[in-house]
Amino acid sequence: MILNAGAAVMRLLPPETAHRATLKLLSLAAPLLPAAPADDPRLAVGALGLSFPNPVGLAAGFDKDAEVPEVMLKLGFGFVECGTVTPRPQAGNPRPRLFRLSADRAVVNRMGFNNAGMERAAVRLAARRRRGVVGINIGANKDTNDRKADYRSAFARLASLADYVAVNVSSPNTPGLRGLQARAELEQLLALLVEERARQRLHVPLLLKIAPDISPAGFDDIADVALASGIEGLIVCNTTIARPAGLKSAHARESGGLSGAPLLAPSTALLKEARARVGSKLVLIGAGGVASGADAYAKIRAGASLVEIYTALAFEGPGLIARIKRDLLQAMNRDGIARIADAVGIDVR
Ligand SMILES: Cc1cc2nc3c(=O)[nH]c(=O)nc-3n(C[C@H](O)[C@H](O)[C@H](O)COP(=O)(O)O)c2cc1C
Repeated sequence: MILNAGAAVMRLLPPETAHRATLKLLSLAAPLLPAAPADDPRLAVGALGLSFPNPVGLAAGFDKDAEVPEVMLKLGFGFVECGTVTPRPQAGNPRPRLFRLSADRAVVNRMGFNNAGMERAAVRLAARRRRGVVGINIGANKDTNDRKADYRSAFARLASLADYVAVNVSSPNTPGLRGLQARAELEQLLALLVEERARQRLHVPLLLKIAPDISPAGFDDIADVALASGIEGLIVCNTTIARPAGLKSAHARESGGLSGAPLLAPSTALLKEARARVGSKLVLIGAGGVASGADAYAKIRAGASLVEIYTALAFEGPGLIARIKRDLLQAMNRDGIARIADAVGIDVR
């Protein structure tokens, strides 16, 4: 209640100030917050060798430095993805770099992996009680001369402290990063990480987070490489550099990645393609524009075992989490689906 009111106030502040204030408020209020009620068992998902109480997760970028994963779990998320974390701390791009497109229920960001670096994240992750699913999303420093070595260092430092690792090669805000989605580059990168995982004798699942702005041939390459590499899943998808027709906000012209409502249709279409291509051989996490139970349900039917949200949370506040879960159960009742896991991919058969 207080946090939902807080979210309304935050919308009056410049977006990055609001974000910082939200993180502060969340960490201060943590002990006072009542835990969300236990989830209906029909929402439980077993995937990646992990047990999720519900399929609704927090996407990367909200809690870049692993400051509040436990609070976000307490608010009712089924899992939380922290990061993107790079090996060394970095400031990110000059401000302003985060823009609300309120009339479009969207955001444009060009943050540029501002984060406190892997050591800070490691200390925080090590201190948490290992209850609930917390993933870590890793990336490369902007000024590195060996991007793949950066992923390897971040993986080596953080993998044992997280329940899964997401490899972010899809941010539009680090020049050249998306080049790692090309076949040969991706093969080498994933091989390095799978090798490091074996070296450390870890069983932590690896997921690749992809961009929506890829050609069908580019996607085909990614699917081939992902399937052959030994990783467990794909996160579909990051923000888009495209600007769908009809955006109303002046900020639509800002450079950076667009997220929120305008990303729902293209990201869900890509998810369907991914499901058609890889079936259930890889676990798919659907992200992009989820703002309701119906949106989450559409992603699950399109092949996602789990979904993630970020932008809609900024507009609607944490009450959204319970609404999505309630509406998912209603949709399941309507369609005679006993467990949410039974709905995965039913639109792609
Ligand atoms: C302000 C902002 C920062 C983000 N930072 C990251 C990031 O550091 N790493 C990442 O993988 N994705 C990042 N994302 C992308 C989200 O994780 C998500 O993939 C995307 O926003 C689509 O979901 P949404 O429409 O629910 O926001 C960021 C998104 C926003 C809006």
